[in-house]
Amino acid sequence: MHVPVLAGPAIEWLNVRADGVYVDCTAGAGGHSALIAERLTTGRLVSLDCDLSAVALARERLKAFEHATVVHRNYSELAEVLAELNMGPVDGILIDAGLSSMQLDSAGRGFTFQQDGPLDMRMNPGIGPTAAEYLSAVDEAELARVLKEYGDVPRARTVAKAICSMRPMATTGDLVAAVRAAFPFVTGVPVEVRTVFQAVRIAVNEELDRLERGLTGAMDALAPGGRLVGITFHSGEDRVLKQALREASRPQRTLLPDGRTGTVTAPRMTLLTNKPVLPADEEIRANPRAQSAKLRAAERSVEGA
Ligand SMILES: C[S@@+](CC[C@H](N)C(=O)[O-])C[C@H]1O[C@@H](n2cnc3c(N)ncnc32)[C@H](O)[C@@H]1O
Repeated sequence: MHVPVLAGPAIEWLNVRADGVYVDCTAGAGGHSALIAERLTTGRLVSLDCDLSAVALARERLKAFEHATVVHRNYSELAEVLAELNMGPVDGILIDAGLSSMQLDSAGRGFTFQQDGPLDMRMNPGIGPTAAEYLSAVDEAELARVLKEYGDVPRARTVAKAICSMRPMATTGDLVAAVRAAFPFVTGVPVEVRTVFQAVRIAVNEELDRLERGLTGAMDALAPGGRLVGITFHSGEDRVLKQALREASRPQRTLLPDGRTGTVTAPRMTLLTNKPVLPADEEIRANPRAQSAKLRAAERSVEGA
């Protein structure tokens, strides 16, 4: 079962009030959601996940909480979801980005290089091309960019070339074989395979673009004083989170057609964490998945537009 990462700090920074309205954008197995739900009396919790199997798990976990609802949606559509549910401004929003351990560990989903399975990697298996289809269609130079930017993969051009020369691919084993071909001097499976899988998965699910849209939607949805808490697991995600919060915490300027500054209004958000909050050694020992986690939090300003 998935263990919620940075659970204590997440709940603390969300500042959950018993009568507040909260959104957990990434329900997963419902770990963080349950911790929010058990603190509510007259409040409300809406939890989203784009993966139907996660929705089923979260519904099971939250079934005892009448004031909790789990919906099968992508958080990049947060504004639409909240409008459909007739929800007004929200007191706290959590985004615990990336994959759950259930997704990673399930060979049939194609996220793991440790077991052979279909090269799928879609978080929502009902939508969009699979990793195999993506890798069949992508241009070699674009693939090299994806590997570098989303996985910081060394020899990204060589890896992209190996993948393109060995396609079509059908299984995770095919992708592992291409990575091995790109590192012929390494015995066994090169360590780079982990970041190659990460980069392809991010591209297939358009994760960074959706995270950016989700953060914008979340900041728009917050009531004054409402909190946004983000947890990320790799540098690409953390860069998007950090930039979005930093940008929103600066005075908002409009530009005149001649390039001069027009109006200047107060920042929309106040940054609460100047440096990311990291898991304690104890948490990392108990749950190695927590090792790369970083939490950042911000509060919607009262004066900001
Ligand atoms: C790290 S897990 C969340 C675990 C959860 N906090 C818990 O305590 O069990 C991330 C979850 O977010 C979902 N997810 C990732 N990106 C998403 C998106 N753009 N929209 C909705 N759900 C997303 C994944 O399907 C996965 O179930």
